[in-house]
Order: sequence, then structure tokens, then C-alpha cells
Amino acid sequence: MSNITFIEHNGEQHSVEIEEGKTLMEIAMNNGIPGVDADCGGECACGTCHVIVNPSWFDKTGNTNNDELQMLDMTPERESSSRLSCQITVTKDMNGMEVRIPEFQM
Ligand code: FES
Repeated sequence: MSNITFIEHNGEQHSVEIEEGKTLMEIAMNNGIPGVDADCGGECACGTCHVIVNPSWFDKTGNTNNDELQMLDMTPERESSSRLSCQITVTKDMNGMEVRIPEFQM
């Protein structure tokens, strides 16, 4: 079984099974992960699906386009490995990846 671990602001961890081809946001929603709001449903228009990828996994998460970068500019807890989870397509290569959820979404 391949897993990704979401880590809440309070340190609570949730290990979820990889569903290849879905977005990381969809997997978070399907598994009821707290703190990923995804208000726009994955249209890269709300910024409330912000996650901070463990830096050693960042290269596996694919490219970041201008729309995502602009949205990340507005997120309150942006870090160098921040991504919008709706813009990450999950693959089996992400087995073992850890992502943190910020304390606040927008
Ligand atoms: S769900 Fe709205 S930007 Fe990702």
C-alpha cells in the first residue's frame, strides 16, 4: 500500500492511501483531512488548499504555474515548499511523502 501523510498544525498525522491520478486536494477531501478547505473545488482560485510539502519531496510534486504562484503569494503562511494541493497530481512516486497543513487557510 502506498501512502501520503498529512500533518496537521497541531502535529496530528493522517496517513492516507495514494489514489494515483487524483489531485492531492481530492485525496485530502476523500479522507476528511482537517484543515484543507478547498473552497473553489480545485479551480486554483481560492488558496484554501495550501499545504507545505516536506522539502525533500518538493521536486516530486511537479511544476508550479503562474496562477498557483499568484495565489500562493496571498496565503498567510507561505513557505519555500508551499503548494496548492489541488495543483498536485498524485503518483505512486509520492509513496512516503509528508505534507504539513498550515494553521490558517485564507
Ligand atoms: S481548491 Fe481552491 S485553490 Fe485549490
